[in-house]
Amino acid sequence: MSKSNMFKLSAIGAAAALALSAGPVAAEEVTNVGTPVTEKAIADWDISVYFDGENLPEGSGTLMQGEEIYLAQCAMCHGEFGEGAKGYPKMLGAPKEEFIEAAKSGEDTVGIRGINNFWGHAPTLYDYIRRAMPFFAPASLSDDQSYAVTGYVLYLAEVIGWTDEPIDAEFIKNVEMPMEEQYYTDPRPDVDNDRCMKNCYAGKEIEVKGKAVIGDVSVGEVEKAKRD
Ligand code: HEC
Repeated sequence: MSKSNMFKLSAIGAAAALALSAGPVAAEEVTNVGTPVTEKAIADWDISVYFDGENLPEGSGTLMQGEEIYLAQCAMCHGEFGEGAKGYPKMLGAPKEEFIEAAKSGEDTVGIRGINNFWGHAPTLYDYIRRAMPFFAPASLSDDQSYAVTGYVLYLAEVIGWTDEPIDAEFIKNVEMPMEEQYYTDPRPDVDNDRCMKNCYAGKEIEVKGKAVIGDVSVGEVEKAKRD
């Protein structure tokens, strides 16, 4: 038996012996376990930026800096001009109208997708790039670098023109994305229901809008599919 396997076995043995001698412990008796979560640990984890710009960090970058980062760390996959490369996504996709037309007719739109025809909000683009790109080293860009390169991607996608203004939280919040209107909050009534586990229909009028016809999946009478 190797040394490390022996160690593992004896460690398990010790843990089992401890568990047996201590007996069951009620949850409320357990104190002084673990360490308080530090502000820094929470801040490092809490990086989600929302579509309206909430939680965008301080800092800024310029399109010039963004171009440098893009050419060094992004262009090999997304193309020097954002045209996509080796099957990786384009930054500049087909014009919005063409994309919508293709999507409506059921065509596969992956090959014509881009930031200009697919992303609803610039703050979520910032979030995505900061947490997921470059693909080989996700989350390696600083907040400032992420501002710079997000701005540059928006420029490549022809969403913004060239500017020497700093790209920061205010700038990103105010970018008008071509597809913004196509993104909306789900209006179906069933997404807003109160949480309920018991007697959920008590006192409510129920209107049956549809029934499953294949399989016994809905409550009540189910018309089974008739197969010849
Ligand atoms: C090694 C190749 C590679 C590199 C380098 C790379 N990416 Fe990507 N990128 C990808 C892949 C693959 C996806 C699709 C990932 C997915 O859909 O899960 C992607 C997706 C994206 C998207 C979303 C595209 C869409 O249509 O939804 C953006 C924006 C993006 N990358 C920006 C960047 C930026 C900015 C950099 C440089 C900092 C970068 N990428 C570097 C491979 C790469």
